Amino acid sequence: MKKEIHLHYQEYKSINELPDELKKLVDAAKEATKSSYSPYSKFKVGASLLLDNNEIITGSNQENAAYPSGLCAERVTTFYANAKYPKNAVLAIAIAAANSEGFLPMPITPCGSCRQVLLETEERYNQEITVILYGTKKIFVIPNVKALLPFFFDKETL
Ligand code: THU
Repeated sequence: MKKEIHLHYQEYKSINELPDELKKLVDAAKEATKSSYSPYSKFKVGASLLLDNNEIITGSNQENAAYPSGLCAERVTTFYANAKYPKNAVLAIAIAAANSEGFLPMPITPCGSCRQVLLETEERYNQEITVILYGTKKIFVIPNVKALLPFFFDKETL
């Protein structure tokens, strides 16, 4: 039997087409790339999280001379938000990335480990997290993290 999994998402051509609240979040993610510590990859990633108390938490990738000890912007920011505001659900995350030439034209998508961590946060607060992926030419808005992680592993599997 053949089966299919579909992903529904929205595509925007410019940040100005986004609803105000999401535009603000993307601006915060872009700003957060400035705090990236990425002397090895020179790839600056910024993330911003909107919490249900209206706080916006930002963070960036933090690298290390022992390469695997570094951490992506999405996990730095998510762990910080969950540690600082353990009672507050995450409503949305925006992600932006820049290399030496500036912000990338196409959005970057979170790595597998970051998707897994975001999924845990989604389930922990029983609240879907809107994922906004910024690029100068295209912006993707994905309604939840589960959509980005087919056949996910979660606590129900344990
Ligand atoms: N990186 C992120 O921070 N987020 C992603 O979604 C992809 C990759 C970081 C990890 C590393 O510091 C650099 O980008 C190059 O992989």
